[in-house]
Amino acid sequence: MRRRVAPSILAADFGRLREQVREVVDAGAEVIHVDIMDGHFVPTLSMGPKAVEALRDFDVLLDVHLMVERPERHVAEFARAGASTIIVHVESTPHVHYAVQAVREAGCNAGVALTPSTPVEALSEIRGDVWSVLCMTVNPGWGGQAFIPASLDKIARLRALIGPDVELEVDGGIDVQTAGPCAEAGASLFVAGTSVFGNPDPGQAFHVVASAAGCS
Ligand code: DX5
Ligand code: ZN
Repeated sequence: MRRRVAPSILAADFGRLREQVREVVDAGAEVIHVDIMDGHFVPTLSMGPKAVEALRDFDVLLDVHLMVERPERHVAEFARAGASTIIVHVESTPHVHYAVQAVREAGCNAGVALTPSTPVEALSEIRGDVWSVLCMTVNPGWGGQAFIPASLDKIARLRALIGPDVELEVDGGIDVQTAGPCAEAGASLFVAGTSVFGNPDPGQAFHVVASAAGCS
């Protein structure tokens, strides 16, 4: 599976959001990651559907990561806003299957995410229904945290469980040091916030992380 880096706008300068996204798109980004936080599932608040809508005219996949309780209640509004992929956490609802079906019926790619303490087996009944699996490599809720080293073993076990054709996203602390080992473990989509938008030249930083991940 082709490896790609998905810059996460959580670390972008929101006063210049479209300009910053333009820089990484011009550098070759095909996927832009949007982190939605509700102050309940995670303690922090971030953004809502309007942030997705603000980017919908870029020729990219908008990868929307819902860190919210009962995400199934919000699928329709994010689909309407222009999401390409909608990712729900398996810990955020007792109805993961329903949420995944709702995403698919809304015409989007469905993804499921796991926090660091959730075992890979939590996906075994849903893996055939999803376009992507997102392995949190930090605890969700904040950008700029250090990569959890035990994630590498988990990524390899996830890849074995889901097979070669499902996107395996890694999210949290992905930079020039950690992208390569994650790629070797089986990751295909590398979410990168601070390492891209925390750099004064996000386009150049995108190239550096993409090369460390072995993207072609
Ligand atoms: C964390 C978010 C991440 C975040 C990653 O809860 O899901 O997508 O933007 O940020 P960095 O790359 O700074 O760790
Ligand atoms: Zn994320």
